[in-house]
Amino acid sequence: MADLLTLFPPGSARDDDGMLTLGGCRADALAEEFGTPVLVVDEPALRARAREYRTELTARWPRSRVVFASKAFPATAVQRVMVEEGLGLDVAGGGEIITALKAGIDPALIVHHGNAKTDDEIALAVEHGVGLVVVDNANDVDRLEASGANVDVLVRVIPGVTADTHAHVLTGHEGSKFGLLPADAAPLIARIERSPRLRMRGLHVHVGSQILDVEPFADSVAPVAALGEFEVYDLGGGLGARYTYADHPPSVPEYLDALIGAAREHLPAEAEIIIEPGRSMVAERAATIYRVTTVKRGVRTFVAVDGGMGDNLEVALFQQRFEAGIVGRFGGSDMERVTVVGRHCESGDVLVDGVDLSAPGVGDLLAVPATGAYCYTMANNYNGNRRLPVVFARDGRARLVVRRETWDDLLARDVD
Ligand SMILES: Cc1ncc(COP(=O)(O)O)c(C=O)c1O
Repeated sequence: MADLLTLFPPGSARDDDGMLTLGGCRADALAEEFGTPVLVVDEPALRARAREYRTELTARWPRSRVVFASKAFPATAVQRVMVEEGLGLDVAGGGEIITALKAGIDPALIVHHGNAKTDDEIALAVEHGVGLVVVDNANDVDRLEASGANVDVLVRVIPGVTADTHAHVLTGHEGSKFGLLPADAAPLIARIERSPRLRMRGLHVHVGSQILDVEPFADSVAPVAALGEFEVYDLGGGLGARYTYADHPPSVPEYLDALIGAAREHLPAEAEIIIEPGRSMVAERAATIYRVTTVKRGVRTFVAVDGGMGDNLEVALFQQRFEAGIVGRFGGSDMERVTVVGRHCESGDVLVDGVDLSAPGVGDLLAVPATGAYCYTMANNYNGNRRLPVVFARDGRARLVVRRETWDDLLARDVD
């Protein structure tokens, strides 16, 4: 049987009694201290990944920056780790600006995205001196000019590249809602170049997410280069993560060899290159621990846990496959094929459709690896769910960085 442990953050292990440890902390002790479900981040693994990205990019293209795509895990504590490791932050909305600032970012290192930026968001970005605003459409330019501020901008270009990933996370294809086709980008670039306030710094491209081969990244560079020479090229994020035994995403060096190889071929040597990894930065650096609440044997065996689509929408949104195991019994003998489901009132609230668990029973702890990306992001209050806490584990010590919501939190916005 494939080793489930390999899907957990690097440094995860099994204690003498078989118990899963994350960042040196026993999963049962974490569940006891923080309750379940709980999202556990291996902090050293997260920092190591941030450093790997920086080191590998700088080695290939010295005039470069890694900017973490906050949307993948927009907890202030995660953004703070990125800031401490010398990364910039990509934000896609006012709220991510607020948390980025609280995380201690130098606003000049923020890259501001969005296909539907509001006046308020532009005002917030301008007020705080955000480093780069990525123009998605002509209305962005109207708003930026109306703000009366001097703003450095990139223009987001659709490269016309279709990657092999789920349609819901494709962004670089013709017909994408994000950015402009080159023919439409060109006149907008000319308009920005004429603007007394806006400074046309460069171009942006992003082909999609959970991309497991390098070609689409390399292919996205030439269409951008065809629009002319600029100071900055932001080549987006999108590298896939390993969720299942079958996933073999390119390593960071493999990805950058392809991307920077294309940059050397097509982009001006003196340009600055930015990349914006999200998912591949955080997905495999965290895991969620649940408690089994129900086991129902019939046509299928359903193992229901105390979380579900309230803390992981990746399955429902784009059928992402996850794996799972009972925390003290990975690879145990009496395996049973089950469907792991959540507690929400939707038949689509499935966490893992078909997985072998060792004698699952009520009260067991179940761990799902690779939940670091977009799970915290899309956690919600469905069925009065209290959003789960985030814990950083490091050298056997656990630190709560986001507490679980309380019943009072659920009532806090009621005005009557
Ligand atoms: C503009 C932009 N940059 C970066 C990212 C991060 O992508 P990923 O999390 O796949 O690395 C996204 C995500 O969709 C994005 O829209």
